Amino acid sequence: MEYFSEEASAQVVNTRIGDGTDVRFRTIMTSLVEHLHAFIKEVEITDAEWGEAIDFLTRTGQMCSEHRQEFILLSDTLGVSMLVDAINHRRPSGATENTVLGPFHVCDAPIRRMGETITLEGKGESCLFQGRVVDLHGNPIAQATIDVWSDNPEGFYDVQQPDLQPRWNNRGRFITGDDGRYCFIGIKPVSYPIPDDGPVGQMLARLGRHPWRPAHMHFLVTAPGLRRIVTHTFVANDPYLESDTVFGVKNTLVQHFRRCAEANTEWQAEFDFVMVPEEILS
Ligand code: BEZ
Ligand code: FE
Repeated sequence: MEYFSEEASAQVVNTRIGDGTDVRFRTIMTSLVEHLHAFIKEVEITDAEWGEAIDFLTRTGQMCSEHRQEFILLSDTLGVSMLVDAINHRRPSGATENTVLGPFHVCDAPIRRMGETITLEGKGESCLFQGRVVDLHGNPIAQATIDVWSDNPEGFYDVQQPDLQPRWNNRGRFITGDDGRYCFIGIKPVSYPIPDDGPVGQMLARLGRHPWRPAHMHFLVTAPGLRRIVTHTFVANDPYLESDTVFGVKNTLVQHFRRCAEANTEWQAEFDFVMVPEEILS
């Protein structure tokens, strides 16, 4: 038995773990304690700084509600969400890449007819989004559900402004037919700041970081037997592409929006989603 000391701190804590502890949980907690103690030692944290850290985490928890998840924002802005995503969603080359889900997805959006609009308030620059859902060989995937959501031209999702925007504004689900094609009308998305009126916003300001995300359209694509894709397409040339506050941008997801000469919309954007089977090895 060894009493606690600065030198043996992590080891002393970890030897207390009980024999019957779940193996995976033991692995995670042992490593967490080791890294946490190493970090505290490396920066020689002061009493005041540790107090500040506890206060920050307390305020982060207190900021959470049914409509606000400040811990996810913290994970997003520290790059942890994208790292967890990268580790868990390695895919073969050619498959559509994942990115963060973000806090504004809402389950069970209305299922709309192909070609229908998702924009219910008639604001913004209209845009035709279209493309195909295919497998790695280019074969169309029928019965794929494409769940889409975006902010409005002022940079807010409907759930952020329940009194100002119609319910389900800029959201909808579309189901592909045998040709795997999808199309719908939305707006050309605009860049917006993540909610920065809480502890995470204060942290960003103190780090000299801005809270902006480059303009993007969210997509969640599912189909039986295939791995779900959680992704966005980003508007090329957006000034925040290289400094997305949640690190969500990937080269393959940047899309050129083209002016529409002939169609009923001002813009159009094409993107094909490439899905892989559940069981495929990356
Ligand atoms: C979003 O794109 O909706 C989002 C993602 C991460 C944090 C905040 C917002
Ligand atoms: Fe978003």
